[in-house]
Amino acid sequence: MTALRHVQDSDYYVVPMATSDDFEEWRGHARLLLMADVPSDRVAWTEPGGSAGDLFSLGDCRLPAPDGEVPQPRVSKRFMDIARIVLLNSDITRFSLLYRVLWRLQTKPRLIEDMADPDIRAMADMARAVRRDIHKMRAFLRFRMVEEESGAEHYVAWFEPYHHILRHNSGFFTRRFANMRWSILTPRGSLHWDGEILREGPPATRADAPGGDPAEELWRSYYASIFNPARLKVGAMLKEMPRKYWKNMPEAQLIPDLIAGAQAREAAMVKKGALDMGERPDTLEAIGQAIHACARCPIGEMHNTAVMGEGPRDAAGGFSGLMIVGEQPGDQEDLQGRPFVGPAGHLLDNCLVEAGIDRSAAYVTNAVKHFKYAQRGKRRLHETPTAREIDTCRWWVESERKIVQPKLVLAMGASAARAMLGRTVSVAKARGQALPLGDGSELWVTVHPSYLLRLDGEARVQQEAFFRNDLSAVAKRLAEMSVSAGL
Ligand code: URA
Repeated sequence: MTALRHVQDSDYYVVPMATSDDFEEWRGHARLLLMADVPSDRVAWTEPGGSAGDLFSLGDCRLPAPDGEVPQPRVSKRFMDIARIVLLNSDITRFSLLYRVLWRLQTKPRLIEDMADPDIRAMADMARAVRRDIHKMRAFLRFRMVEEESGAEHYVAWFEPYHHILRHNSGFFTRRFANMRWSILTPRGSLHWDGEILREGPPATRADAPGGDPAEELWRSYYASIFNPARLKVGAMLKEMPRKYWKNMPEAQLIPDLIAGAQAREAAMVKKGALDMGERPDTLEAIGQAIHACARCPIGEMHNTAVMGEGPRDAAGGFSGLMIVGEQPGDQEDLQGRPFVGPAGHLLDNCLVEAGIDRSAAYVTNAVKHFKYAQRGKRRLHETPTAREIDTCRWWVESERKIVQPKLVLAMGASAARAMLGRTVSVAKARGQALPLGDGSELWVTVHPSYLLRLDGEARVQQEAFFRNDLSAVAKRLAEMSVSAGL
């Protein structure tokens, strides 16, 4: 551990961090300090480029040798999960806070559950602020098109995060805008994606980013058409979309006029008797952008990530022919911004492999795009979307289906089946058979993997076997339709 410095003539250590956001770096230092039994009040941590001040005369690293064989320190997954997020906070005390909690956990393993403890509360507050920043960046970052000298289109966005979230969010943007060439410029660093390789660059200034492009006019008129005056709550809107972000969002320039005209539009809509859903977006990228701003139902107002469907295009630019639809993102999906990456996703993956269906070739999405939950202490407990919420979100999943054009849709659970059919069906009655969707494609219905996770004992074994049977029937049908299902 060459980076660690020992303050001569005392047992004080200074850890100059080389990175602001690399959890593994902090973890490596913390592990060695813990194994050398260095109490948290004997360690100071400094930001990259920061100085330890004149107080310390810095010497070489000389950690006290551990007494005999020291086992690797162990700590709960819960601490690790939250610590990874806290580390991204820009508060300079985060490194020492995390080490202090880690130190205290060695003698009080349940400390992490004690929300009355000031350190644990501070961690929770820092994590909340980081999650909010992650969400804001995903929701409010806007690209502007610039033409490269070669004539190729390059999309550039300027964003000012409060915290060190740029690298953390890179996967989200490379997946979401996989087929575009883009750059994200921020005062904390920049990212550049050429469709294959992601590169990191130095911090940028606002002047490095373009100010506007012709596509913004289109985006503004699209936003005006989806803006729903019946749902307008100005206070909530400002809380969700603080003015700080407005200057980078072309559509935000419309907000004052839209608010002013909202009452008149609402009256007109009520007279018309229907909500105006506007033009259907005609690319998955446009849907991905638009669902972030969607607050057509109360779930969209819960400040969490809109999770878009995902799936690869084939060489001809089409999709494999299989679309898998779940209910709504869960806790993990909300955090990672991808469908079926949590426990239900792992079970699904295993069962698909056994049935010979290649998930990585399918388009995987959800009936509802936001995670609906009830907060219970620190836990976010899944809540089933209402029929009305499913019907509202149906607009998006239908738009995805029109673009993906699957030959076979596998709907898992009653919410997904309703989203596909527009009416409630009994999963028990509908499963195991093809239901026509009216455009030549077929719907197959089965249970949701989360339902299986809630069962145990014999019931779990039996229901999992039925689920596997349903998937095998789908694999067989895909083979008949000559849609690639094999691994
Ligand atoms: N359950 C779902 O329905 N979808 C997900 O993406 C995850 C869990």
